[in-house]
Amino acid sequence: MKPSDIAALAHARYGQKIVPHLPKINPVLETLLSHRSVRRFLEAPLPPDTLEMLMIAAQSASSSSNLQMWSAVAVEDGARKARLADAAGQQNFIKQAPLFLIFLADMAMLADVAKGRQQALDGIDYLDTFLVAAFDAVLAAQNALIAAESMGLGAVFIGAIRNQPEKVIAELRLPEHVFPIVGLCVGVPDLTRETQIKPRLPLSTLLHREQYDKKQHADGITVYDEIMRNFYSAYRNDGICWSEQALTRLHGPETLAGRDHLRDAILQQKIALK
Ligand SMILES: Cc1cc2nc3c(=O)[nH]c(=O)nc-3n(C[C@H](O)[C@H](O)[C@H](O)COP(=O)(O)O)c2cc1C
Repeated sequence: MKPSDIAALAHARYGQKIVPHLPKINPVLETLLSHRSVRRFLEAPLPPDTLEMLMIAAQSASSSSNLQMWSAVAVEDGARKARLADAAGQQNFIKQAPLFLIFLADMAMLADVAKGRQQALDGIDYLDTFLVAAFDAVLAAQNALIAAESMGLGAVFIGAIRNQPEKVIAELRLPEHVFPIVGLCVGVPDLTRETQIKPRLPLSTLLHREQYDKKQHADGITVYDEIMRNFYSAYRNDGICWSEQALTRLHGPETLAGRDHLRDAILQQKIALK
């Protein structure tokens, strides 16, 4: 790999030239910096043992206190994927992907152990424990996504499984103390519809040194809005920039696609969030 490759990938990641002195590229950095979500898949099966490989990569992620309070449901059945796609904002590429992996915050395993031993496990009733389980699930999911990309596969996360979590919970028969965090579509990418590396906010906008400085925000956002207006012009011509899109997405409960009720759905799973 040429040292110039990392400069080219970093350039694509920011939509502009960045710091001149980057370390020598290696395969891990190349995979990370080349990331792009893939939403078009070929009607091809995954290579044998892909699921196991992704799960081994997922389980290699760090885990808070090594509690490993996460699990995953692998869905390959077409009818089930279709029902999950409906529950997740009719995102039809969920049906196209041969594998839909749903990552779960899972406190059921330890709850059962405690019950069997008649021991207290009141710690699972606290918000931090749910966050710990959710973080573990997300770290595992990110490892699985990067593993899939390193194997030449395409993938995209599906947060929309939290739009109507009760449907996902019923479909996957999730027991109490288990909650769906994020889905991951995995498939062979359709290279005729290749996607581009999506630029991110300038580093200077969100890297604070020693102490937080709000003054870094405004300039970076102005630059980024222009970069993203250009980036999106290849796909659409509404002229909407990143900040407008972000503010619309978070305008109010009505723009949260049902997730304004998430707390109720979590409580329903006997996860107390004290
Ligand atoms: C937690 C999470 C949930 C996401 N949910 C969805 C989703 O439901 N549908 C979708 O098309 N993309 C989803 N995405 C993908 C983001 O839209 C995508 O990562 C973002 O636009 C940046 O693009 P890139 O991944 O190609 O760099 C999700 C990403 C994350 C991290």
